[in-house]
Amino acid sequence: MKKKVAVIGYGGMGGWHVDHIQNSDVVELAGIYDIKEERQELARSRGIRAYSSREELLADPEIEMVTVATPNDVHEEIAIAALEAGKNVLSEKPVTLSLESLERMIAASKKAGKIFSVHQNRRFDVDYLAMKKLRDSGEIGEIINIESRIHGSRGIPSDWRGIKKYGGGMLYDWGIHLIDQALMILGFDVDSVRCTFDHITNEEVDDGFKLFIDMKDGKNAFIEVGTYNFIAMPRFYMRAKSGTALITDWREKCRVVKCKAWHESDVLPVETAAGLTKTMAPRDSITVDEYEIERPQSDVHDYYRNFVRAIDGKEEQLVTHDQMRTVLKVIMKAFESVERGGDRVYF
Ligand SMILES: NC(=O)c1ccc[n+]([C@@H]2O[C@H](COP(=O)([O-])OP(=O)(O)OC[C@H]3O[C@@H](n4cnc5c(N)ncnc54)[C@H](O)[C@@H]3O)[C@@H](O)[C@H]2O)c1
Repeated sequence: MKKKVAVIGYGGMGGWHVDHIQNSDVVELAGIYDIKEERQELARSRGIRAYSSREELLADPEIEMVTVATPNDVHEEIAIAALEAGKNVLSEKPVTLSLESLERMIAASKKAGKIFSVHQNRRFDVDYLAMKKLRDSGEIGEIINIESRIHGSRGIPSDWRGIKKYGGGMLYDWGIHLIDQALMILGFDVDSVRCTFDHITNEEVDDGFKLFIDMKDGKNAFIEVGTYNFIAMPRFYMRAKSGTALITDWREKCRVVKCKAWHESDVLPVETAAGLTKTMAPRDSITVDEYEIERPQSDVHDYYRNFVRAIDGKEEQLVTHDQMRTVLKVIMKAFESVERGGDRVYF
């Protein structure tokens, strides 16, 4: 039998969850609650039950799971109220705004004996999955470093995302996804973090950032989000001991160049306007293989499927509490680094 889910916060992402739940094979929609009357009315006009208060929603014994899709500053308060009412809770990202707040949420879930996780839906993006598949297959050898970028040119949205007290800023918004993806590829053993912010269209919160994450084993990630980039740099670039992988855009396939012979006797120099270079001469098919890898299969419905199996005690939840702690800690250390002018901050 499908589990009944209610969504709190019926805005852009709440709307996505509602559609998604209505097309799910494991959950069904009980209804929504939004603090704004007009959003409740909109839901009703679409044939969706809108509870008139959070208390009324949480008192409904048929609801087993609550998805929280409000602005970031109220995730904690709503998640804890739902856990205390005996509901399993899926919080939108970022799960919350500080490590202390996350610990309070985890404690509430342990006390209630209910599942609590965060919606890291971008673990189902095929660009990330292609990179992870390459790591897992080992076909280009041990990873050296990974660069992950999202570049837009429309500035930061003009809603709550541009305001600090609501948990605005691109680090909390896109950063939390890209950090999670990078750590899923490199492991969660972080050594240190360095970060700088952009304030091009917004003074109050970061409207872009550059973040270096150094891992204890020497690997590293560079993560960059920009909202004032009229030409976007590639989505993913990964160097490994036997090759390099590139995804230019999230609609594109992953291109791989794999080294098959390190030494080459005859290198044809490249002639530039001002001189010659052999060091930087491109390779040819004698020493490298070049190919594309198929886009991996992905179904984002697997997120809710896993959540339901976790409620039933049949699987571990996809995004664990320790993973949530580490990803949020990277964000906290990044803020600390920014305050110290971009200095390295140890974990
Ligand atoms: N995982 C993803 O891909 C993804 C994408 C976009 C947004 N999000 C996350 O989803 C959440 C919502 O973002 P959004 O873009 O939908 O914002 P939004 O502004 O479009 O919607 C938020 C809704 O929450 C309502 N709300 C505010 N306070 C409330 C409260 N105390 N109780 C009930 N309702 C309340 C607002 O009235 C609004 O309708 C954020 O945490 C955001 O980070 C996740």
